[in-house]
Amino acid sequence: MSNDPNQKRKLADDVRDLMALPGEVHVDALEKKWIFVALGLMGLFVTIILYTGFAKHVHPPGEMETIDSARLHLSAEFAEDRLGVATQPDGRIKVTLVAARYGFYPREIRIPAGQPITFRVASADVLHGIHVPMTNMATMVVPGYVSTLTTTFPKPGEYPMLCNEYCGMGHDHMWSKVTVVSQESWRAGNPQSAGR
Ligand code: CUA
Repeated sequence: MSNDPNQKRKLADDVRDLMALPGEVHVDALEKKWIFVALGLMGLFVTIILYTGFAKHVHPPGEMETIDSARLHLSAEFAEDRLGVATQPDGRIKVTLVAARYGFYPREIRIPAGQPITFRVASADVLHGIHVPMTNMATMVVPGYVSTLTTTFPKPGEYPMLCNEYCGMGHDHMWSKVTVVSQESWRAGNPQSAGR
């Protein structure tokens, strides 16, 4: 650094300018307008969060359910012969899946459209994600935890169920098939759920 006194004075002035109190800062009228717009948006978002939380009961997942990923095959719920689609005694439909490199097991599921389906998914090894494109069926599957989500598929059709968290070399090939059928064909194919 030079010892020139003029340069030193200039530096001191610059520092003083930089440390000017906020009250002395000039705020342009247009800038002020945008500050109000930004504050208004923040207020709007907070209002939406409070409204959906209190009036609509939309909450982040609150329950934390743990499971031993290495012993899934011995667990009551995720043993191999318990996996798949099951109609509960109360008529609700539950789908139990294991995510493991590289697939979701069972590899194919068949479910009805237009009725809430509860998915319960556990990973047998590493972090996976489960996602059915064009629907809101998507969640992470973290080893050691059970992921639960309930959703309704509005339209019959065949959907791929993909892994959307990188889990290894076979990640790109990790997918299973979801067949969503109409209520009529569901009842025809599953007499035990007819009349419900
Ligand atoms: Cu499983 Cu990517």
